[in-house]
Amino acid sequence: MGFVEITNVRKVFGGKEKEVVALDEASLTFDEGEFVALIGPSGCGKTTLLTIVAGLASKTSGSVKVGGKEVTGPYPDYGFVFQQPSLMPWRSVLQNVLFPMEILGRNDAQAKARAEQLLEMTGLHAFANARPHELSGGMQQRVSLCRALIHKPKLLLMDEPFGALDEFTRLDMNDLLLKIKAETGASVLFVTHSISEAVYLSDKVVVFTRRPARVSAEFQIDIPAPRTQACRFTPEFIEAERRASEALGLLVGTH
Ligand SMILES: Nc1ncnc2c1ncn2[C@@H]1O[C@H](COP(=O)(O)OP(=O)(O)OP(=O)(O)O)[C@@H](O)[C@H]1O
Ligand SMILES: [Mg+2]
Repeated sequence: MGFVEITNVRKVFGGKEKEVVALDEASLTFDEGEFVALIGPSGCGKTTLLTIVAGLASKTSGSVKVGGKEVTGPYPDYGFVFQQPSLMPWRSVLQNVLFPMEILGRNDAQAKARAEQLLEMTGLHAFANARPHELSGGMQQRVSLCRALIHKPKLLLMDEPFGALDEFTRLDMNDLLLKIKAETGASVLFVTHSISEAVYLSDKVVVFTRRPARVSAEFQIDIPAPRTQACRFTPEFIEAERRASEALGLLVGTH
């Protein structure tokens, strides 16, 4: 039994005449502490799957279990990082990070200490009292990562969180995320369009087909931790990228 068990999930949007089948019998299982990257063509159903795992959207059929419990609505044991930081502009960085603790009714001194520790870890300590508009895009995304981690979730759901960032910032964020994973032991389900990012971060890469999405390939990445940027140039890394590219159908017609 895995920590997250997605079994035959089907999702149909719209009415009878304008049906869109976003997910068709999608299945995927992973364990506590595993980092899983999900890649697939645009519009294939990746965001739909994340929102279903988060209990934010309903499924047409199938089952999603997290920690052995069927997901029927939102639950406190996950953190979600969206493609856009979606911070509240009128709140300080610290107040944004503490927002989930307000919702959970646990905004106490301990929560504040943890928020400060997260800001320290992500290099934002000096900006605790700044407003989001005073930060760069990469810094704002680090704030939203702290906000997702504040209640120590066992599962982190991330939907192309670094897609809008420049390459340098993205590489930095990748290293930060590996550090956070090592320190928190959280499971991560991470959607990305970058094959290289998927291989660098993951224990397992899952490739989706075109819509309606189902899993077309799934493979382990055995590159040992701690991973550093230099490992991107090793034969194992390049081979893993090749396998993912092949599974995505990108190598058709080449020799
Ligand atoms: N609320 C909705 N109502 C109707 N159709 C929707 C809705 N949300 C998503 N869809 C459709 O479901 C399909 C999958 O969308 P989804 O956003 O999950 O794709 P994606 O894999 O995340 O794409 P991208 O990589 O571009 O972010 C698309 O065809 C989309 O138009
Ligand atoms: Mg999406």
